[in-house]
Amino acid sequence: MSTLQSEAKRKPAIVILDFGSQYSELIARRIRETEVYSLVVSFSISLAELRALAPKGIILSGGPRSVYASGAPLCDPEIFNLGIPVLGVCYGMQLMVHLLGGSVEAATGKAEYGKAPLEVDDPTDLLTNVASGSTMWMSHGDSVKLLPSEFVSLAHTSNTPQAAIASHQRRLYGVQFHPEVVHSTEGMVLIRNFVYHICGCDADWTTKAFITEATNQVRTQVGKKRVLLALSGGVDSSTLAFLLNKAIGNQLTCMFIDQGFMRKGEPEFLMDFFDRKFHIHVEYINARERFISKLKGVIDPEQKRKIIGAEFIRVFEEESARLGPFDYLAQGTLYPDVIESAGTNLDLKTGERVAVKIKSHHNVGGLPKDLQFKLVEPLRRLFKDEVRKVGRSLGLPEEIVSRHPFPGPGLAIRILGEVTTQKLNCLRDADLIVREEIRKANLYHDIWQAFAVLLPVCSVGVMGDQRTYAWPIVLRCVSSEDGMTADWSRLPYEVLEIISNRIVNEVDGVNRVVLDITSKPPGTIEWE
Ligand code: XMP
Repeated sequence: MSTLQSEAKRKPAIVILDFGSQYSELIARRIRETEVYSLVVSFSISLAELRALAPKGIILSGGPRSVYASGAPLCDPEIFNLGIPVLGVCYGMQLMVHLLGGSVEAATGKAEYGKAPLEVDDPTDLLTNVASGSTMWMSHGDSVKLLPSEFVSLAHTSNTPQAAIASHQRRLYGVQFHPEVVHSTEGMVLIRNFVYHICGCDADWTTKAFITEATNQVRTQVGKKRVLLALSGGVDSSTLAFLLNKAIGNQLTCMFIDQGFMRKGEPEFLMDFFDRKFHIHVEYINARERFISKLKGVIDPEQKRKIIGAEFIRVFEEESARLGPFDYLAQGTLYPDVIESAGTNLDLKTGERVAVKIKSHHNVGGLPKDLQFKLVEPLRRLFKDEVRKVGRSLGLPEEIVSRHPFPGPGLAIRILGEVTTQKLNCLRDADLIVREEIRKANLYHDIWQAFAVLLPVCSVGVMGDQRTYAWPIVLRCVSSEDGMTADWSRLPYEVLEIISNRIVNEVDGVNRVVLDITSKPPGTIEWE
């Protein structure tokens, strides 16, 4: 449980035992939305470790396996005798039933996926105020056949007689559906019932409390030593800069390495905002020439990323030596990175998560692990939406707080083929038009990412009386929850028309705009 040991001192009020569900993290987020601190731990956590955490409630997550399959992940059955309320979700409920003497079987021909109206039979504790007939999200191939003794059914659906169960006496609960997903319309009512009424948690996980705790911890950790932060302009490093500035003032040095791949106006905005408006000193490092010259003649996307990553480290090392010495390096590591760095799939033998590298390239552009700094990572307990709240509360502007995700290697990977200054300027102009028009149409917050991509092929067009032979711009707009999957955004034709007209008319070197209508999978969000 290395993750837990390195966490801050605050103990989680609710601990989620992860049995490999894609929703384990989401359960933690939902509980934190109720201002109750929760953490995800491996299903194999020992009883002693669990006792040491002393949570007020335990949740057993869903998982892809059948409880009766050989090698299915199990927890210590003594968990049910700790006197701590337990809520099993889907696989977690089936596991509870299985370990306590009931039975689970394949719901032959009755597997239930998708929305189902929940018929409430017992509207007390767990289901207080959950309206009968409200929609819950089902996703299961197995069902509870026989309840353990002392258990009663609280609700059913047309397919599942035991959709919610309880042993009121022992404060053990189970739901076959997923209250944490948005499709479960009253899922949050149920979650609140569990954390507040059943577990007696306090609503003390607030932005204000986090800022106070984190600033105190940073002060204790670094004492009078100097801290270096590489600012990227994204919400994580910007929030970190504000938090550290509040905690340690001028012991902090921020460094912004301008690789030349930012969007139009961003370096200027960043410097103006931090340095001049908030008096957070930022060392501006103009490395544009270095980066573009290294990319001369390079067309392979992986090679591009590697070159940019390696050059970033070189510049960082040179500049930190020049500005230093520093004892600490601040990094904007977030909680999903902490969970994911331990992998996203469970090894059923050891109980640890094992790494599945879908997005290995995303680490390119980061710093190597063997730098001679100690790390300061005050955001490692937070989800992205919590970082945004902290950023807002510390005074970061909306431009930064709600900025669409932007890859570390920036526009360099949105230019296919060789990157040149001419292409960068062209893409920057097109990208600005996309952003302006999406904002004007009030669509910015509904869209995960909206951007332009430049393709290095020429096609014939006609402008006025002139034949043109120029590049196309691809318009890529997607909706997504987390960037792992995505769908193309159905933008209104009027908005597409304005974007296309403006790009072709205003951007030199472009005579065509095309729209990418590929979802992810099978496409990716970025083109490279
Ligand atoms: P793909 O293209 O793999 O991207 O579907 C998924 C999400 O990740 C972002 N992305 C990056 N973010 N550094 C980052 O910080 C990177 O190198 C990088 N590459 C892709 C991408 O913009 C999308 O949101």
